[in-house]
Amino acid sequence: MAKEGRRRVNPALLPTLIELLLMGAREGPVPVTTEELARRIGRSQQAASKHLEALEREGLVERYRRGRATEVKLTPKGVNELVGLYLILRSTLEEPPESYLFTGEVFSGLGEGRYYMSLEGYRRQFAEKLGFEPYPGTLNVRLDSPSQSMQLRELVVRGGIRVKGFSDGVRTYGDVICYRALVEDVAGAVVVAERTHYDYTVLEVIAPVNLREALGLRDGDRVSVRVFFRQG
Ligand code: CDP
Repeated sequence: MAKEGRRRVNPALLPTLIELLLMGAREGPVPVTTEELARRIGRSQQAASKHLEALEREGLVERYRRGRATEVKLTPKGVNELVGLYLILRSTLEEPPESYLFTGEVFSGLGEGRYYMSLEGYRRQFAEKLGFEPYPGTLNVRLDSPSQSMQLRELVVRGGIRVKGFSDGVRTYGDVICYRALVEDVAGAVVVAERTHYDYTVLEVIAPVNLREALGLRDGDRVSVRVFFRQG
């Protein structure tokens, strides 16, 4: 299973985070008393209060004073943590679907894909593990919806074909996780840089051919990419 490259939250705080989700704190600030929270998590009021403090310190919730009452809201980071938990449960308890269909818009990056895809340390492994020599570059596709970003994240949690990182004596390069894919009707792969990816809004696609030429794609054009879970 691919690590997600982030420091994990203290697991003792998770039940409290889940209770806040159940109380509606994802949609907006909700009134929370330490009494009620304590009852919900089956701990003392003091423990509940400590949990809230710790969750705020970790940037997972925000607290607002309303007179003598307190309101609590999950931050995007807090929601993100719960989504991560959900995807771990889902990927261990449920069989994966055969594939996911992603759609989005082609856009240009800063030419970094070409650089990374030209490195011999990666190229050798792509040929060996994917069975093709990639065109030097990655096609960037900005995904259409948050639900597709969640599906991409699920792929990462479930893991794929691992291309190992290496060092060239000057700097080190991280692992890349690959998933077989069909870009329209051209076979290729989606690649996720394990070390550097921080959000899941963009799909990076490699193929044996230049996809822009093969499919007549320009910036702003829409493209569909079917990504397969089974990597055999
Ligand atoms: O400049 P950018 O970071 O977007 O791209 P790159 O990774 O350096 O790749 C060079 C160019 O080839 C870009 O225009 C990519 O969209 C394109 N490309 C392609 O058409 N087909 C591939 N299999 C890989 C890259």
